[in-house]
Amino acid sequence: MAGASTMSWWERAVIYQVYPRSFQDSDGDGVGDLRGVIRRLDYLQWLGVDAIWLSPIYPSPMKDFGYDIVDYTDVDPIFGTLEDFDALLAEAHRRGLRLLLDLVPNHTSDQHPWFIDARSSRTSPRRDWYIWRDPRPDGSPPTNWLSNFGGSAWEFDPATGQYYYHAYLREQPDLNWRNPEVRAAMLDVMRFWLDRGVDGFRVDVIWHLVKDEQFRDNPPNPGYRPGMWPYRALLPTYTTDRPEVHEVIAEMRRLLDSYGERLMVGEIYLPVERLVAYYGDAGTGVHLPFNFQLIGLPWDAPTLAAAIAAYEGLLPAHGWPNWVLGNHDKPRIASRVGSAQARVAAMLLLTLRGTPTLYYGDELGMRDVPIPPDRVRDPWEKNTPGLGLGRDPARTPMPWDDTPGAGFTAGEPWLPLAVDARAIHVTAQRDDPSSMLGLYRRLIALRRDEPALRAGSYTPAGSGEGWLAYLRESGGRRLLVALNLGAAPLSVDVSVESSRVLLSTVPGRAGEAVGGRVALRGDEGVVLELLERP
Ligand code: NOJ
Repeated sequence: MAGASTMSWWERAVIYQVYPRSFQDSDGDGVGDLRGVIRRLDYLQWLGVDAIWLSPIYPSPMKDFGYDIVDYTDVDPIFGTLEDFDALLAEAHRRGLRLLLDLVPNHTSDQHPWFIDARSSRTSPRRDWYIWRDPRPDGSPPTNWLSNFGGSAWEFDPATGQYYYHAYLREQPDLNWRNPEVRAAMLDVMRFWLDRGVDGFRVDVIWHLVKDEQFRDNPPNPGYRPGMWPYRALLPTYTTDRPEVHEVIAEMRRLLDSYGERLMVGEIYLPVERLVAYYGDAGTGVHLPFNFQLIGLPWDAPTLAAAIAAYEGLLPAHGWPNWVLGNHDKPRIASRVGSAQARVAAMLLLTLRGTPTLYYGDELGMRDVPIPPDRVRDPWEKNTPGLGLGRDPARTPMPWDDTPGAGFTAGEPWLPLAVDARAIHVTAQRDDPSSMLGLYRRLIALRRDEPALRAGSYTPAGSGEGWLAYLRESGGRRLLVALNLGAAPLSVDVSVESSRVLLSTVPGRAGEAVGGRVALRGDEGVVLELLERP
């Protein structure tokens, strides 16, 4: 077990995701921007997070809100300029905050000069930078591969008579990572930002980068039922998680390591047994393969306890764990588990072993915002309406105060503000220690101040219907975390001889002495400081 002092910055860190369109607008166009993020750095410093992951800021036609890039080494005017970016980085670093960019290497925009060149003719020098295949004899797509955003993943290009592959929108053609020139070009992109001083990258859909060399059809998914996400009709056996992806990652890692302690986080939606392979052999994988179990699993104690144990058990010796509660692609935690239970979820996120990543606004208890049909922006919702896949509800503007634009914008926000934005906002919660924001801030501070939480061992301390408990320990200091995952009070079967409440999700319990069984109120989580060995 690494001692707190020998840890890397990213092992000690709490990461905060900023979705730049929705964080802070500084010019009244209703869309957040880099100058806006600069204005809010003091807030992030006050909150106590250590690193910011910024979702894409590059020039983009915004078909997928920045995940469709036309220039990897510039900033979209809607977000500002490269000078604004440099100012943001300098201001973040001045406050001791690290900055991670979103690297999107799997696909470009169809408006990227590389793709325009590639599609211009079959003999274009960049043709092979993308994935082109002839139609089947009957003219149909070369394989049965499906797009994540609906329909076939192959788009026919009439001018050159071939199909190109796109795992997402047809406006997001996939790059051909088997081509060494593509790899070299993307490493150059990484160098561009690393030379500017960024602290690392969150790498978009990294498990998608390499596709089957033989272009085999994906097998049907026996678990698929109508009404499910259409992409799930097939198992993505030949389109994702191919063995060769690890060579690509190792190359990226070598580059990062040549810059010192820079971080690579990988976006990977895979079962944990496969996920942990992305740690690679020591020094060859991504530092943090995003662990999305808290997002994906049903919110019940036995399931979560088993998942934590399985994950802890599968980690390679050099693998540092990480946990995520929300992001710009998934329903918000407060909508999923309810506002009261979201406080318990916050405690879980910030007391488990491993780097936590939190999503902007979750620290206020923001909920999904219903989007009227005429204001839907997400292409996924537009392509597969009615299935509940739309991501706009979780991407609405951050409410800062009770002014009409919630302190987010002086204009018309690009997505509607929450109806409760006039009540749930930073200003209302900032000075109230019992608020969600107050709780997040105390949890983050506790994590920072307690080596047992930041660096200590994790030992399950029991779980039952509706509850789970675990021990975090470092250098003789032992903390017990006990969480009630339901609304009814519980007395849980963890005997502690003598302990004191360090922090509770329910106001007024700090300092309380606890001995014997641990009594929890409904929706309560506690961190207990154990005073004697039981
Ligand atoms: C994952 C990103 O998180 C998501 O927002 C995006 O639509 C897809 N990758 C495609 O880039």
